[in-house]
Amino acid sequence: ESKGHISVVLVGATGDLAKKYLWQGFFHLYANQVSSGHSFSFYGAALAGPEDGTPSMFQTLKGLTCLSGVTPDRCALLKDQFLKLSQYRQLKSAENYTVLDNEIEKLLKDEGLQEAGRLFYLSVPPFAYADIAKNINSTCRPMAGAWLRVVFEKPFGHDYEAAKKLAKELGMYFQEEEMYRVDHYLGKQAVAHILPFRHDNREFLDPIWNQHHVERVEIVLKETVSAKGRTSFYEKYGVIRDMMQNHLTEILLFVGMETPLTINSSKEVLQNKLRVFESLRKLDKESAVIGQYQNYSAEVTDELQETKGFKTLTPTFAGVLVHIDNLQWDGVPFILTSGKVLDERAGYVRILFKNGAFCLQSENGRKSENSQCKLKQIIFYVGHGDLKFPAILVSKNLFKPLMPALSWKEVTEYPDISLFGQPLSDYYIYSPVIETEAYTLLISHIFQAKHESFITTENLLASWSFWTPLLNSLANEYPRLYPGGAENKNLL
Ligand code: BG6
Repeated sequence: ESKGHISVVLVGATGDLAKKYLWQGFFHLYANQVSSGHSFSFYGAALAGPEDGTPSMFQTLKGLTCLSGVTPDRCALLKDQFLKLSQYRQLKSAENYTVLDNEIEKLLKDEGLQEAGRLFYLSVPPFAYADIAKNINSTCRPMAGAWLRVVFEKPFGHDYEAAKKLAKELGMYFQEEEMYRVDHYLGKQAVAHILPFRHDNREFLDPIWNQHHVERVEIVLKETVSAKGRTSFYEKYGVIRDMMQNHLTEILLFVGMETPLTINSSKEVLQNKLRVFESLRKLDKESAVIGQYQNYSAEVTDELQETKGFKTLTPTFAGVLVHIDNLQWDGVPFILTSGKVLDERAGYVRILFKNGAFCLQSENGRKSENSQCKLKQIIFYVGHGDLKFPAILVSKNLFKPLMPALSWKEVTEYPDISLFGQPLSDYYIYSPVIETEAYTLLISHIFQAKHESFITTENLLASWSFWTPLLNSLANEYPRLYPGGAENKNLL
């Protein structure tokens, strides 16, 4: 990639996501790239005028932190440089975009810089996309030869038709390769490493990653929070749209897809991901259970009264049984579960291998204590729940894997807990050398144009076309209501 100047424009620069993660991610990007030969300018943009936007944005910037491993002196210097390169701009009218474009061009000219690209990160609600997209396309495209990347945050529609409409609209302004749709779970290190791990260890894994050796696959994202503060959104979505159509589906693809020949080819990875959709068995009502714990309605009741004034029947919990009907996965259940206000926060995908299957059954009602009865499993642990850090766990009785990647290390000291019936000493455990937030990883992947870490239009529509019939068939079903929440495990 040619070196040159990169302009980053963060639209929604004073919003929650920007404050919490995005500025931090751009700062890490800058810190990692500062000696790469690229130069940068960062524009934070929002609807507010400079008098309101500027102080609020700089308050966030002043609180930025460096990744572990950076000395305090170095960190202070980097932060100082980053602050100097960052400015607030109001982006409200079409004219504002013209002013911004002129400003970027003037900077390039005055400093004699070659333009490498422009990155627009849209951290705004989807109803605002079309207008912003139109302005970027008509006014803010970079010079010939430089790239344009435009990043969008979900939700991307609430069913197949809506997603298609939105995709069509954006397609009027941008080429497919200019768009990056974020699913932040693809930036969680354990999830981002499913494929590299499979690929690096393919000699061991390929022979057993199939129906002959896999008993079942569990994909679980349990939360303890409700939807407090965002009820008006969540009430329209519910758990299947909010979590399953995107996060859990993407994890399913990484486990179910054929190992690509090379993981450095976005194209091949994306193609293999898409191919999984072709083999997914159609879902019907029998494939799913939906529920709601009363703690959910108890927590959001104030907001519901304000907005609607009636009792909520939104499913906040779902368990869905998915099958990939191809030769590799014939008969293997993929069990997807997710919910809010549950007993614990935990996220993982767990691949259970056969011949440890009898361990799940109890003898005369008691679990066998037989030492041979050890589950063989590989777990990609997102990093909540008992094990706080992201990790890849491999049963020692399965095999000694290769290292997942250079940026992961073997963990030898760990909490005294057991996971899925095995003490931690029964696993090889790997964790990232540096733990990063999902957004930091994703922003670096945007910079590297790693499209496989984002949701392409085809992927998005294929996913919605898989989920929409189920959503339609459940539209008039009431979720089962369960008492309590935190203390409840009965659905899982
Ligand atoms: C979001 C959902 O995509 O993911 C939220 O809209 C959910 O409802 C969140 O709480 C969970 O993400 P994380 O990173 O907190 O596990």
